[in-house]
Amino acid sequence: MKIATILGTRPEIIKMAPIIDEISKRDIDQIVLHTGQHYDKEMSDTFFKDLDIQTPDYNIHVGSGTHGKQTGLMMKGIEEVLLDEKPDIVLVQGDTNAVLAGALVASKLHIAIGHVEAGLRSFDMTMPEEVNRRAADVCSTMYFVPTVESAINLLAEGYSRKNLFVTGNTVVDACFRHLEIAKKRGIEEETLKTLNIETMENILTLTMHRAENVDVKERVVSIIEALKELDDMNIIFPIHPRTKNMLEKFELFDELNNLEHVHIIKPLGYLDFLQLTSASTLILTDSGGLQEEAITLSVPALTLRYNTERPETVTAGGNILVGSNKDAILENARKILDDKDFADKMKNAVNPYGDGDSAKLTVDAIEEYYNKGLLDIEAPEDIMTSFSRKMKTVTDDISVSEFEGMEDALVHMVFDGENMRFPTDDLNLNGMVVSYDKRE
Ligand code: UD1
Ligand code: UDP
Repeated sequence: MKIATILGTRPEIIKMAPIIDEISKRDIDQIVLHTGQHYDKEMSDTFFKDLDIQTPDYNIHVGSGTHGKQTGLMMKGIEEVLLDEKPDIVLVQGDTNAVLAGALVASKLHIAIGHVEAGLRSFDMTMPEEVNRRAADVCSTMYFVPTVESAINLLAEGYSRKNLFVTGNTVVDACFRHLEIAKKRGIEEETLKTLNIETMENILTLTMHRAENVDVKERVVSIIEALKELDDMNIIFPIHPRTKNMLEKFELFDELNNLEHVHIIKPLGYLDFLQLTSASTLILTDSGGLQEEAITLSVPALTLRYNTERPETVTAGGNILVGSNKDAILENARKILDDKDFADKMKNAVNPYGDGDSAKLTVDAIEEYYNKGLLDIEAPEDIMTSFSRKMKTVTDDISVSEFEGMEDALVHMVFDGENMRFPTDDLNLNGMVVSYDKRE
């Protein structure tokens, strides 16, 4: 079997690293294709080194640009590589332009696609990420969903339960594996110097780069106004290149940088960043990955967004959405910093993203599909049967797979009272309402 992994930005490298590592331990060929969307050393190369994975076999160097140009260049480059390499499955991760380009190209070449971190929804179609992840899901063959909530999003959109694998999120694998290594190694001398603080105490780690925040001056100003008042904290701000450009364009960089308690530094490598976040009292972010890492590391997070495709972090109690609203940021930050019980409750939130075995579960599922011939994407030869969509209240002890066998049906959604359940093969349906597709 041959697996091709497509990645292009910092979070994709971090989250695919555990899977690349897992594949390399098995009797599987793999190629890694970098789109070149992130190209600065500290946004790309550093992570292959820090996460100890092979460097990409291909880099198609698309660089920065408008969405259309960037995605178009990626599609051209990815197609050339896939035609040449003929992998059995292409893996894409998350919601960047690489995911859109990789999924579109592979589906037209009839190559199976595994979408890692599928099923997330912010329900905000103004976000480029929401468009990318939805389009990739339409094209995919296997869906590696981090939580039951994400699986239910896909069921609600009509995807077959059979192709959904609840694996947790590989960010937990990366976090668990590398935090120990990071702590043993200690923070790099150069990073310590640039941090410009005496102790690793009262740390507030800040990251922001979402277009809907940093490209809008009023939002940036409002966030800066809140940061000014948090002057009892050491605010460490490893700045994303997009954010640096925008702060300079809005002539706000110096104003922020001149605040004594704010330390703007270059983006950090993964090992240094993990040490910073795990030592933080509070994380203020609009990053997707960091919302997940905060709850994994038991650090309270305030998310600088009005919606999140990671609502599990909020319902678990580890994350609060504050938008870019100065009052909401300050009110919640003060509660976390001044009220120990409140902070402890947030720290004790249960991590919804699994136990750190997501990469293993993902590669196990791919091997199983390969062995069953389910990665062969071919035009159907059976004449299509019609089916009707039905619903039933089940009053016997019967599992999902028994129900499907008996009814010649595919179970779709399952309601247990007013709550939806994910229909695993062995779920006992007694007392539940089931919707299903019945072949005629
Ligand atoms: C991209 C992803 C976003 C993800 C983020 C992770 C899309 C649509 N967006 O956003 O989902 O959360 O990566 O960090 O795929 N730049 C550099 N050096 C680099 C890369 C970028 O200077 O190595 C600058 C360029 O000026 C560029 C800007 O940053 O125009 C934005 O980069 P881009 O890749 O378009 O989007 P991100 O904001 O990084
Ligand atoms: N990260 C890092 N160094 C930094 C900032 C972030 O290693 O200076 C890591 C962080 O631990 C997380 C990932 O980058 O795993 C998040 O990437 P980003 O916020 O760019 O993208 P998003 O997750 O929002 O797509």
